[in-house]
Amino acid sequence: MGKILITGGAGFIGSNLTEYFLNKGFEVVCLDNFSTGHRHNIEPFLKNPNYKLIEGSICDLEICRAAVENADYVLHQAALGSVPRSINDPITSNEVNVSGFLNMLVAARDAKVKRFVYAASSSTYGDSAALPKVEEVIGKPLSPYAITKYVNELYADVFSKTYGIECIGLRYFNVFGRRQDPNGTYAAVIPLFVKQLMNHQSPKINGTGDYSRDFTYIDNVIQMNELAMLTNNPEAINTVYNTAVGDRTTLNDLVTYIKKYLTEYDEKIADVEVIHGPNRVGDIPHSLASIDKAKNLLGYNPTHPIEKGLKEAITWYWENLK
Ligand SMILES: NC(=O)c1ccc[n+]([C@@H]2O[C@H](COP(=O)([O-])OP(=O)(O)OC[C@H]3O[C@@H](n4cnc5c(N)ncnc54)[C@H](O)[C@@H]3O)[C@@H](O)[C@H]2O)c1
Repeated sequence: MGKILITGGAGFIGSNLTEYFLNKGFEVVCLDNFSTGHRHNIEPFLKNPNYKLIEGSICDLEICRAAVENADYVLHQAALGSVPRSINDPITSNEVNVSGFLNMLVAARDAKVKRFVYAASSSTYGDSAALPKVEEVIGKPLSPYAITKYVNELYADVFSKTYGIECIGLRYFNVFGRRQDPNGTYAAVIPLFVKQLMNHQSPKINGTGDYSRDFTYIDNVIQMNELAMLTNNPEAINTVYNTAVGDRTTLNDLVTYIKKYLTEYDEKIADVEVIHGPNRVGDIPHSLASIDKAKNLLGYNPTHPIEKGLKEAITWYWENLK
């Protein structure tokens, strides 16, 4: 089948990619320094003979070189996520997300991998108010994190033109699903709200709750990674794709769905009140992707609209957090 290096393989998206590709018969090497990832995410793979863990940082070029040796593909997920984290500490976000990315590109180029697929971000749309978001129209970045993710795209483009390495960037839109971390200062909204409601604590919505996002279930993201990694369409490579569902949900509706599905397990959750705080700096009001490019060039067909994804995710959280 082939060998895949998954950087950030102990994180939310990386561990889901690992599980999927091990099940398909690929060899998987995971490079992770456990800065935001967890050992419990990779525990099920450790006994698999097709799995290898390399503990180390993408900020170390020699470690990147060792990790990518003999790999056919790279799925580069390692980065420091979260807009607020990058606002609090832009230097570390830049070191990992930009210098670490460049290390991985150089290592992948020298190892002559067949393809370098990387986690880009919808934050690259910045202050552009246009909806739906189409890949070619972006605004100015609104955070240090957004800058780092846009710089990734610029480097990948230049590397493909200069050195001939095949790169594809996937602009993820608010991904959610099993194994996404509900804990910590920078937890994403869905696992945070699920955990709070499970504990009968009030979730806090920033603003009135009419802001909307294109929440994207992990299985759709796995599909995009597989399509990007294996496509034979020469027009589909050396570019970026929105990785989303093409539908948007307000924060108020999101909480309504989460409460509805959690109430199936614990009816008291229906009575937990939602509270509202001020809008967060750097938040854009609405985000909605056009997924036409991925459909046309990669044959993408998302399997999980938000409600189906939320139902599956909540089942997982109930079984694993309770
Ligand atoms: N989750 C989302 O909604 C979303 C949206 C847009 C983009 N992304 C991008 O997708 C990727 C994966 O995100 P995630 O949600 O799985 O986050 P995550 O924090 O769960 O996973 C990131 C992983 O990278 C590892 N890592 C961080 N710094 C590292 C370093 N220096 N060396 C090696 N490993 C390192 C972490 O330990 C962690 O396991 C990131 O690049 C992120 O920016 C995620």
